Amino acid sequence: MFASDLLQGKRALITGGGTGLGKAMARRYLELGASVYICGRREHVLQSTCNELASATGGEIHAYSCDVREVAAVEECIARIWNDGPLDILVNNAAGNFLARTEDLSAGAWQAVIGIVLMGTINMTTCCGRRWLAEKKSAVVLNIVATYASSGSGSGYVVPSAVSKAGVQALTRSLAVEWGSRGIRMNAIAPGPIPTEGAFSRLLPKKELERLAIDRIPLRRFGTPEELANLAAFLVSDGAAYINGEIVTMDGGEWLQGAGEFNYLGYTMTDVDWEKFKPTKKKG
Ligand code: HXC
Ligand code: NAP
Repeated sequence: MFASDLLQGKRALITGGGTGLGKAMARRYLELGASVYICGRREHVLQSTCNELASATGGEIHAYSCDVREVAAVEECIARIWNDGPLDILVNNAAGNFLARTEDLSAGAWQAVIGIVLMGTINMTTCCGRRWLAEKKSAVVLNIVATYASSGSGSGYVVPSAVSKAGVQALTRSLAVEWGSRGIRMNAIAPGPIPTEGAFSRLLPKKELERLAIDRIPLRRFGTPEELANLAAFLVSDGAAYINGEIVTMDGGEWLQGAGEFNYLGYTMTDVDWEKFKPTKKKG
């Protein structure tokens, strides 16, 4: 899909890059010539991803354990990366989420998700941003949100995530304006459901729910990590240099189907049902 040197010479940090979509983006960036840093909380997960991707792609990848909620840990992680040279690309992908009725959430539960998704993104973005601005260096930030933030619909049962992702979306658009004139682009991707262990074990824990979820998608399938990674490569590349402040939805049309009034008919009506709606032919 891309020239193999699309990201040659670029240095990228992907938070939560040890698993799922972060790992898929790390692989794609390496294949396209970038040097990649990944971070997350679990050292062993990061190390195993590092080893796997280094041998699969032959690219340069480093891993640092870092909890994005902790300002001091973020500062230390970014300082270690900058010791090798400044980053060109930051992908805020790390997230926490689970299904729960909102009335059951403790203050700690809210803090856990808001801390990772919203504050983690703010911590990483401001830490890198201050350095880029001081160095007058062009750079690009890509945030991974979710369609329940970008469609304006919100979502029950994942409310800490919905409010956090909406905040990340506001951060994306606000800083695209504030920092754009100083060479920093800021965009986001809003994916629909893409099977990963981290997301599906927490959010689609029963097989029957997967069927319901697929019926909500016009293309009648989930997205793939590779499709997400391709979009993520394009958006951080110089080829997308004029795209700034955009939230790109990648969901097979799911939220549009949910937004329309009668779209559910597509998976509830049979051919026989539709025949009954056809006008009856007048005699003579
Ligand atoms: C209610 C819960 C809970 C649950 C945890 N808590 N799970 N409350 N229902 N299912 C509460 C705990 O009781 C605790 O509250 C507080 O949250 C913190 O819990 P810990 O387990 O101590 O937190 P921690 O170890 O920091 O783990 C954070 C986490 C966990 C968010 C709870 O799930 C995690 O590490 N997730 C990372 C990966 C992930 O979530 N990936 C999915 C991303 S998918 P108290 O009051 O006791 O302190 C996604 C978008 C999907 O984001 C969109 C699909 C379309
Ligand atoms: P995942 O595999 O669970 O990824 C989450 C990653 O975040 C993990 O690697 C995790 O590693 C890391 N992380 C969590 N808390 C952290 C913290 N405090 N500090 C640093 N790293 C932390 O799930 P995924 O499906 O790939 O999700 C990736 C992104 O896509 C998320 O932003 C998610 O909201 C978004 N998304 C996913 C889907 C989907 O259907 N898969 C849909 C829409 C949006 P550790 O646990 O080791 O820290």
